[in-house]
Amino acid sequence: MAETLSGICAVILAAGAGSRLGYPNERGGKPMVEALGKPLLAYGLERLAGAGLQDVALVVNPTNRPVIEAFAGDGRKWGLKITYVVQETPLGIAHALSLCQEFSGRRNVLLLLVDNLFAANIDAAVAAYAQNPGDKAEIFLVPVPNPQDYGVAVVEAGQVRRLVEKPQQFISDLAVIGLYFYPPTVYDFIPQLKPSARGELEITDVNSLFLQQGRLRCCKLDGWWIDVGNAERLAEAERLLAE
Ligand code: G1P
Repeated sequence: MAETLSGICAVILAAGAGSRLGYPNERGGKPMVEALGKPLLAYGLERLAGAGLQDVALVVNPTNRPVIEAFAGDGRKWGLKITYVVQETPLGIAHALSLCQEFSGRRNVLLLLVDNLFAANIDAAVAAYAQNPGDKAEIFLVPVPNPQDYGVAVVEAGQVRRLVEKPQQFISDLAVIGLYFYPPTVYDFIPQLKPSARGELEITDVNSLFLQQGRLRCCKLDGWWIDVGNAERLAEAERLLAE
């Protein structure tokens, strides 16, 4: 296990419903969807603990909260300290993050979407960011065959040039995965956002503001990545995890 990191905390977005996967909020929603018999939330918590993080906020919803709390408790099982933050209404990823401002205070923040599973080891990236955030945000990119389903980055000479949420026309095959590193100034951007067509405060808009200010780093991740959104992707994730 990596050395404990100070100056960086984590937020796991665990408020999504998993009805399509047989886990409505009453059963815990998305975070309790099981891959190879283990809830998605456990994969996220293990990953963060393994990377040396200690302090984690779980953003839950009012209905799934009791199930999540019964499972994860205070986080001791993983050597973590868990704080619960309730998102009353599903108003988007950036909105969920905004609720964690008091929790994270002046620390840098790692944001992880609970339904994102991937092969890469991020321990070194977390440690490097914790040491030198440089007041920049950092996003992680993976090439995919279906970029229209994700936030997408156009990258030239190692620099992000443009970010588009679910582009209708092909602009790049690099999906922005649900793992983001932010300096504490991220919270200044969120009040400037307007809801998107789907009525959410989009994390892509937060990242675009960092980009406009020349404060966005990107890192291409090796290996597979899956956003466990439906039964087919869950089956694919289970196949890859088993390998
Ligand atoms: C969200 C983000 C998108 C990102 C994806 C990763 O999409 O908005 O930019 O690529 O997570 O899983 P959503 O799952 O909300 O459609």
